[in-house]
Amino acid sequence: MRISFCCTDTRPEPWLAGLRAALPQAEIELWAPGAPAADYAVVWAPPQQFLNEQPQIKALFNIGAGVDALMKLNVPAQAQIVRLDDAGMSVQMAEYVCHALIRHFREFDHYEADVAQGKWSYRRPRLRAECPVGIMGLGVLGQRVAQAVAQFEFPVMGWSRSPKQVDGVFCFAGAAQLPDFLAASKVLVCLLPLTDDTRDILRFETLSQLQMGGYLINVARGAHLVEQDLISLIDSGYLAGATLDVFRQEPLPASHPFWAHPKITVTPHTSARTLRDESIAQIVGKMLALERGEPVAGVVDRRKGY
Ligand SMILES: NC(=O)c1ccc[n+]([C@@H]2O[C@H](COP(=O)([O-])OP(=O)(O)OC[C@H]3O[C@@H](n4cnc5c(N)ncnc54)[C@H](OP(=O)(O)O)[C@@H]3O)[C@@H](O)[C@H]2O)c1
Repeated sequence: MRISFCCTDTRPEPWLAGLRAALPQAEIELWAPGAPAADYAVVWAPPQQFLNEQPQIKALFNIGAGVDALMKLNVPAQAQIVRLDDAGMSVQMAEYVCHALIRHFREFDHYEADVAQGKWSYRRPRLRAECPVGIMGLGVLGQRVAQAVAQFEFPVMGWSRSPKQVDGVFCFAGAAQLPDFLAASKVLVCLLPLTDDTRDILRFETLSQLQMGGYLINVARGAHLVEQDLISLIDSGYLAGATLDVFRQEPLPASHPFWAHPKITVTPHTSARTLRDESIAQIVGKMLALERGEPVAGVVDRRKGY
């Protein structure tokens, strides 16, 4: 079995060492142009040339949950695309979203500002019932986040493409129910994959359907959000603010207005990082299952794009 490793922005040595330790019988190499074609590949945003040189490849293992970078490329027709399926990411996402939600709801940003000035102050407690949380995307990450948010007794709404039943979550599905979902939500969490259907989904028309004083947490992809529309809605006072982990351009340019906006908190695309050991164990398990002719979880549906 020949495995090629082709991941941009990733230090290859520890991945190669981990994969080789787990699969001593396999030939595992860092890809370089002209390298022999592989049976399987471990990839992150590979160049098109890599894919052009893999006529027989059986599966591509993406070292993240989002496959949008891969879906822009011409992937050999027979290759299965397999995404990471949690692998330690969902609990990180739940931590991040709960932190951002609670920081906003309990006004910890205001307390931090007061404390910095040596001011002992109180704010009127807010009612959880008046802070329904809407989660766009009820997949591996969205469902875990919904569960975590529900633990804090916020009303939780969820929206997905196909109808779902999730304990403790009031579920909406499809484009027809998007307006009702938005109208029922005050804090909006985006955990959608980036596809042709979801690009720019967070724009004036949708964000202005949230309840007055709404708050956005975008942890999916930067291209979901029309950035200027968010700034306009916050500056007009309709939305209270946002916590953003992903941006149309990353790294966020130094001159970008988000950096200094007092009602926007930014983090550097760090809400749920790929954990190497968990990911290697998962990828190796799935490769061996495919070799035995067994089905694996996390295979991307190319027609849907996720
Ligand atoms: N910031 C970070 O560090 C980070 C880390 C990991 C992942 N992410 C992002 O998080 C995304 C979600 O990950 P995941 O593992 O939860 O994905 P997933 O399991 O594929 O779930 C995607 C969810 O979105 C729903 N959906 C897709 N297209 C839709 C549409 N047009 N309308 C309504 N709902 C739609 C799906 O509906 P169905 O259930 O009906 O299919 C599903 O519930 C990834 O694609 C990635 O972009 C970000």
